[in-house]
Amino acid sequence: MYYAGIDLGTSSVKLLLMDENGAVKKIVSREYPLSFPQPGWSEQNPEDWYRESIAGLKELTSELKDGELGGISFGGQMHGLVMLDEKDEVIRPAILWNDGRSAAECVYLNETIGMDKISSYTANIAFAGFTAPKILWVKAHEPGHFARIKKIMLPKDYLAYKMTGTFATDLSDASGMLLLDVKNRKWSKEMCDLCGITEEKLPQLFESYECIGNLKSEIANELGFHNQIVIAAGAGDNAAAAVATGTVGDGACNLSLGTSGTIFISQHKFGVDEHNALHSFCDASGAYHLMGCMLSAASCNKWWMDDIIGTEDYAGEQKKIQKLGENHVYFLPYLMGERSPHNDPAARGVFLGMSMDTTRADLTQAVLEGVAFGLRDSFEVAKQIGLNVKRSKLVGGGAKSPLWRKIIANVFGIPLDIPETEEGPSYGAAMLAAVACGKYKTVEEAANAIVKVTGTEEPDKDLTAKYDAQYQRFRTIYPAQKELFRKFAE
Ligand code: XUL
Repeated sequence: MYYAGIDLGTSSVKLLLMDENGAVKKIVSREYPLSFPQPGWSEQNPEDWYRESIAGLKELTSELKDGELGGISFGGQMHGLVMLDEKDEVIRPAILWNDGRSAAECVYLNETIGMDKISSYTANIAFAGFTAPKILWVKAHEPGHFARIKKIMLPKDYLAYKMTGTFATDLSDASGMLLLDVKNRKWSKEMCDLCGITEEKLPQLFESYECIGNLKSEIANELGFHNQIVIAAGAGDNAAAAVATGTVGDGACNLSLGTSGTIFISQHKFGVDEHNALHSFCDASGAYHLMGCMLSAASCNKWWMDDIIGTEDYAGEQKKIQKLGENHVYFLPYLMGERSPHNDPAARGVFLGMSMDTTRADLTQAVLEGVAFGLRDSFEVAKQIGLNVKRSKLVGGGAKSPLWRKIIANVFGIPLDIPETEEGPSYGAAMLAAVACGKYKTVEEAANAIVKVTGTEEPDKDLTAKYDAQYQRFRTIYPAQKELFRKFAE
């Protein structure tokens, strides 16, 4: 029997086929457009997601015989606002996780209603990009669209709805809507009231590994299958990646270098940090996690390589970087504003410290280091609240660069284990499908049986010390710029 994982990412959908023992049989990826209609806005078309996912699924399963596909599940970009009307038509393009338009709605929730209240309802505070502030934005700016809303869902749940007819979400992804009472794993009536919606507009809640229904027979038949194919609820991409890297025990940590950069710390018990700098979410195994998310991580490097210096040779460009820990140029990686820990949609990218002897390689290096320092900001919050993370896994597109791996291991000063399968969310999703089909009893059992580590990036004492000194400088730059960012956004 085989299991498919669909990772509905921001730049593409990545699909992975896994056998019963966790061996990866095939990987397929298909791109779709991303639009930035105004600075700081970010949108995609749900129909594009569905079309490319089904085409990808066809390609993924083309060599399987009838009866060989047991189940499918999802990992998905989180927080995106997808709205359907009474005819199940998409009302407007989805407003994505890295969209900063809802700054005023966040001020309303965090300051007028108050962070204490919002945190007591949801275990989190409002960040631009979370779903609830975006619902309030639609209500204020597009009342015609707001009036038509019959269903509100997250990106991957749109796929699941089209594939099963079940209006469902899972608790890890629902946690990022700012509509969920995370501690008690149920929708928050108070938040629904604040957003002017009722609970029936929200999907039914499932654990990530639970079956929400079967693949519609017409879709299954078109793929060449006549058996029942189980669809599991799936998880937000970071929670799915955590499954794929075995980040399920208490205190286990995963770093992900995708379009976004995240630090994910698994927790058996529910917990929140005092300032809500880290997100407190449900995980995909039935427990909880704390997470810091930077909005632009591998995307900073992609922007620098593709759009600014115009090269496809990422490795060649990185070969020119010789001296680690001695760069005089610093880069603030806030190309889409920043979420963790600054919560500032007005923040922007900055190069600081250039002189006549600055080279192209110094700037490339500054971009890689700026992302690592930005992630360390969230790591520092975790340390302050007493979480003692001694090592971590590292996944995501950026983790393929040996130089970036080395920079991150030394900026954090901890060993980074590199899992055999770098495909985080799609692999985790396939594992969730296997659990839903009964192949494994629990997510933890699946992770223990399947996940393998192939190598470790060890930090070097001298380089860690150099990077620590540089990080102490880096962390002074944002506070010094903050007021300017605010003024420039006016
Ligand atoms: C997490 C977050 C991002 C997206 C990326 O809170 O917003 O990691 O899930 O797809």
